[in-house]
Amino acid sequence: MRILVVGGGGREHALCWALSRTATVFCAPGNPGTRQCATNLPESAKDHAGIAAAIRREHVDLTVVGPEAPLAEGLVDHLAAAGLRAFGPTKAAARIEASKAFAKEVMARAGVPTARYNTFSDEAEALRYIEAHEEPMVVKASGLAAGKGAVVCSTRAEACSAASAMFGGRFGAAGKTILVEQFLLGEELSVFALTDGEHISMLPSSQDHKRLGDGDLGPNTGGMGAYAPVSLATEELLRRVASEVIRPTLRELANRGAPYRGVLYAGLMISPDGDLSVVEFNCRFGDPEAQVVLPIIGADLAEDMWSIASGENWSPTAMIAANQTAVATVLAAPGYPDAPEKGAAITLPTELPEHTLLFHAGTEDGDGTLRVSGGRVLCATGLGEDMSAALAASRRLAAAVEFSGKVCRSDIGWREIARARAS
Ligand code: AMP
Ligand code: GLY
Repeated sequence: MRILVVGGGGREHALCWALSRTATVFCAPGNPGTRQCATNLPESAKDHAGIAAAIRREHVDLTVVGPEAPLAEGLVDHLAAAGLRAFGPTKAAARIEASKAFAKEVMARAGVPTARYNTFSDEAEALRYIEAHEEPMVVKASGLAAGKGAVVCSTRAEACSAASAMFGGRFGAAGKTILVEQFLLGEELSVFALTDGEHISMLPSSQDHKRLGDGDLGPNTGGMGAYAPVSLATEELLRRVASEVIRPTLRELANRGAPYRGVLYAGLMISPDGDLSVVEFNCRFGDPEAQVVLPIIGADLAEDMWSIASGENWSPTAMIAANQTAVATVLAAPGYPDAPEKGAAITLPTELPEHTLLFHAGTEDGDGTLRVSGGRVLCATGLGEDMSAALAASRRLAAAVEFSGKVCRSDIGWREIARARAS
């Protein structure tokens, strides 16, 4: 099978790596890392006609769209209209991520537990609401903001300034409508379900680390590291996620004429009492969660994606984790997330340490030297039989990569380690 992965970040490198185990892979536009397991093509994810032409030129059987932006812009619809098979939701179904206001409506209708909220498109009204509500609270841009559109505010004053910044254009059109949401206490969990709209296959659970700094301090980022699987996500909990979150959401989307196919990502908060709430839905794999989940799944991802995209009778293969744990440490540019500094030369180890995978994200090598070209630069994944082995491998690799001002967390997986100590 010949597969095209659209995108060029760490998630897409992980997808190329996973799919290249059983298929011939292309990546558009890719990055210097995807070139190790795929053929990079020059087309941009924004150029829908160019992507369709590349698919025909390279005799691609299946296209897998990685990031949310091309999904929200209707790339899958464009390809389907041209008779080309693509894995990922249509534009209408991708609204589950592209509009937080829409996602909340779907959840309310489907009876899916989520935080109480209100939406606003008028600044004065939002500020009045904030003044009348309990601290802490979360202020969110409704549209796509590269994972950075949610601000957790411990005071009303912070919430007011976050809301004003959004109305003032901090996230462009994405912040024209905002949500003010009840703060949920608990532990976050990322769960990915592959689905053809009817059947689902739950992948191993993972946990992201959104804050920039150790101890979960500092600003929210796209994600500074992840591990999988998460022991908090027992089989019983995952069954509840399937029946209380994923299935009702799929049914409601289908009822609205937007049946969902692809991977549905539920970002959950698990309260100290074990109650679950949806923090957000995404219409794609998480980044950096993909860099820990894809390396530990036992199934043939290419076959599953092909069947889902074909609308054929898909019977999910068991996505059993291959008795492995994965930990990923993201290496970010200095100044990330607000103003990442680009251009520094990167030195990679001549040989990767054992049981590690290095996924590229914000790198480029157009002038013959590998350089920093984005906020999240590389992702150092370590694999092991247990958390401590995987963590040690990830740290070894993270330390072996050098560039000026490298920013990374040293406490990825701290909740899991604390849980293991406590038990
Ligand atoms: P979102 O953009 O909705 O995914 O939010 C990004 C991050 O902000 C989440 O992963 C959480 O860490 C945090 N967050 C969002 N909403 C809430 C909430 N209602 N309560 C607590 N934390 C939240
Ligand atoms: N790591 C969070 C996300 O991909 O949205």
